[in-house]
Amino acid sequence: MTHSTYLNEESQDDLMSRGFARRDLARIAAVFGVGAVAASIGRPAWASGGVPDPAPTAKVRIGANECWTGPLAPGALAATKMVSQGNRYSPQDQRGDFIKAVMAVENVPYDHVAPWPGSSDPLCRSVITFCSPTKGLVTADPTFELAGRTAAWLGAPVKAVPLTADYTHDVKAMLAANPDAGLYYICTPNNPTGTITPLADIEWLIANKPAGSMVLIDEAYTHFAGVPVASYLAVKHDDVIVMRTFSKLFGMAGLRVGYIITNPKNIAKMMRYDGGMQSGALPVTSIACATASLTAAPLIAARRAQMQTARGLTLDHLKAKGIDVKPTNANMFMIDWKTKKASEMQAAFRKESIEIGRSWPIWPTVSRVTVGSSAEMKAFCTALDKIVA
Ligand SMILES: Cc1ncc(COP(=O)(O)O)c(C=O)c1O
Repeated sequence: MTHSTYLNEESQDDLMSRGFARRDLARIAAVFGVGAVAASIGRPAWASGGVPDPAPTAKVRIGANECWTGPLAPGALAATKMVSQGNRYSPQDQRGDFIKAVMAVENVPYDHVAPWPGSSDPLCRSVITFCSPTKGLVTADPTFELAGRTAAWLGAPVKAVPLTADYTHDVKAMLAANPDAGLYYICTPNNPTGTITPLADIEWLIANKPAGSMVLIDEAYTHFAGVPVASYLAVKHDDVIVMRTFSKLFGMAGLRVGYIITNPKNIAKMMRYDGGMQSGALPVTSIACATASLTAAPLIAARRAQMQTARGLTLDHLKAKGIDVKPTNANMFMIDWKTKKASEMQAAFRKESIEIGRSWPIWPTVSRVTVGSSAEMKAFCTALDKIVA
């Protein structure tokens, strides 16, 4: 198989209509692949179809799993100080300092860490690097769809396996669904359910999948859960990638920082066309912010506690009204409206200037709601009382 098979017909036609020769397609497939995915399939939901994003005008924004507030204080200070040195690509060794902070917090070697602008890019690249039309993706349902959409774009077969009754990843069914997949995608805590898949189940999958298949563990929300993390698995096994982002608890979604932990051979494969400059070079302000934030353990714990307080008061309110909420360990929860479509409920909250999240096709009456500040969640409860008498 050639790299050009990674491009669908439309992409190939597009490239050739722009003057590329057929022989160029193999060389540029990976570059174009990541760019095209980021530009179309991987774009945030609000960026689709030219429809204006309603969220920025809402008084309460609890729809996109962002943090209710900005970076932790030491991070904001570090970013501000860095602005005046923005003339240098690397005023000091900001990238190295960041990796050293990751090493300290995660207990992983330097060469196993690669920083990225958020985790969407390495997520798309993992799929593009390790899946193909003959090596499929196995994902969960419901889960964060970017991996599945990227695989579909690539022409790789996708199996989406329902969560267990406890809303964890059904690793045995995932392996059975495709015993020789290119990549198994595990999101824990899972988006949209906020539920955790036990590390023992992930270890089982790693031990039982065939050599050469990758396991991608997306821990975007782990700081909100405060549970043991999977980093050690990416050091112990060559075929595991652990992925993190600063877009959630760290309040840096717009500042764009994330990292992966994996064997350096995998990092080299994912960077195969640019040696890391294109995707690995981050704004020095953002990376300084991330370094100072990652090591602020007491502030991380305090923010997690704030989220738990806000989540607790909301879940108590919903329970008192007899509304069905699924269990969660993260900054989001799923409400089953039972007789109402989630899209109708989203529209009703929008009228109250509250932007809640969407639903997933498998559960059309279930809305995902992000936990905001306590004040925002009280506003949500007030609106709820109005909408659901
Ligand atoms: C599970 C999960 N992974 C990855 C991402 C990507 O986020 P970012 O690119 O901001 O790191 C998100 C964003 O919502 C997510 O929910």
